Amino acid sequence: MAKAKTQFICQNCGTVHSRWAGKCDGCGEWNTIVEEDPMGGIGGGPGKTPKKGRAVTLTALSGEIEEAPRIPTGMAELDRATGGGFVRGSAVLIGGDPGIGKSTLLMQAAAALSRKGHRVIYVSGEEAVAQVRLRAQRLGAAETDVLLAAETNVEDILATISEGKRPDLVIIDSIQTLWSDTADSAPGTVTQVRTGVQAMIRFAKQTGATMVLVGHVTKEGQIAGPRVVEHMVDAVLYFEGDRGHHYRILRTVKNRFGPTDEIGVFEMSDKGLREVANPSELFLGERNEKAPGAAVFAGMEGTRPILVEVQALVAATSLGTPRRAVVGWDSSRLAMILAVLEAHCGVRLGQHDVYLNVAGGYRISEPAADMAIASALVSSLAGLALPADCVYFGEVSLSGAVRPVSHTAQRLKEAEKLGFSAAVLPAASAELPKGSTGKWREVDSLPDLVARIAGSRLKARNDQEDG
Ligand code: TYD
Ligand code: MG
Repeated sequence: MAKAKTQFICQNCGTVHSRWAGKCDGCGEWNTIVEEDPMGGIGGGPGKTPKKGRAVTLTALSGEIEEAPRIPTGMAELDRATGGGFVRGSAVLIGGDPGIGKSTLLMQAAAALSRKGHRVIYVSGEEAVAQVRLRAQRLGAAETDVLLAAETNVEDILATISEGKRPDLVIIDSIQTLWSDTADSAPGTVTQVRTGVQAMIRFAKQTGATMVLVGHVTKEGQIAGPRVVEHMVDAVLYFEGDRGHHYRILRTVKNRFGPTDEIGVFEMSDKGLREVANPSELFLGERNEKAPGAAVFAGMEGTRPILVEVQALVAATSLGTPRRAVVGWDSSRLAMILAVLEAHCGVRLGQHDVYLNVAGGYRISEPAADMAIASALVSSLAGLALPADCVYFGEVSLSGAVRPVSHTAQRLKEAEKLGFSAAVLPAASAELPKGSTGKWREVDSLPDLVARIAGSRLKARNDQEDG
């Protein structure tokens, strides 16, 4: 037999290298490459003689489905993110930074399902039983029939959950603590995590139990991140949030059984996570309507409209190279908007520092925010507050043209619902809501938008002089 050869595997993305390197070519992360023995991995690798295969029974597509294919938790925000509840026999990965609230969320979900009569097993590899109990008490979940185990060995976990009646839901917290006798690498390495996750997925497919796997996102790369198992599971949800803020977003990034652009919004309180049915109110909560540099963006998250305030501060710089700082948005996108403002609108920002912030610690990923950002920038530079009852959306192209975006009607409807009576939106937007009384001002280019904001300044000054 050939000598066992070790491989060098990136703990962040799983790329295999022939030798050690400081930086992974696959994902660009530093110090994430670890030497591992691939023979110890799934199926023993190519070194072992394959056993003779066993024929499985082939079945038809049109079979009986005995149970409801989904089990909704009754937590509306969680069910929305999973596409209507956990799918039986599927594996769901919930990733997120340590301390963001993954265990809290899953304990609440476990309790909710247990109250509905489902058999739920919570396997904690990070906390002792007493600690998990303490959290359950705090969440008001202690009286439920959730079954608890503190275990990290894959074979022991499989033996435990195979015993007795089949569970409806199994929670493994977390995949990084799993270790199997069949893999030789240290716990937390790519090989161990993959082996453990594979075994759990196999259990889910065979029995029809739903497997929920918790994965910590790691910055240092000492342990394998959730990235390395994303392709193996049926759905991937990320739990995001800012430590400085209380709200958390559960974002779907992959779902074999539902939409992928949905989010669930929660707020962390002293009694666990509270569902936030109307996120816009949360993000507009502390608005100062008279301050220049703030614009309300009518955004979309999946099928759900969200209004959020963007704040800009443009101030004369004292440095040779002006500062550009962005929180909650893409900095290269900001550079593009600044360039378009300079090139096509005559707005000179070369001598100004620009700071941009999205309120509430929220992150915008839509290009439709361009118009709101540009409005906030111009408003701050001009020292002029934008109308308090107006929302902004639209994509800006490099030529300075404003392009229509999707879901116009939904954005405007949400704005109206929250008391906004005006909107600045791209010209040629289709599907304006019928019968609405709002003032929808269409602009077709960024210079047009800047002229409007500057024009309102002249108008304001004239009004002042008149009055
Ligand atoms: P946890 O669920 O342990 O995070 P994770 O499993 O993602 O590592 O949540 C830990 C944080 O949540 C911790 O900082 C305390 C906070 N927390 C509350 O604010 N309220 C609560 O009721 C609970 C249970 C936790
Ligand atoms: Mg935890």
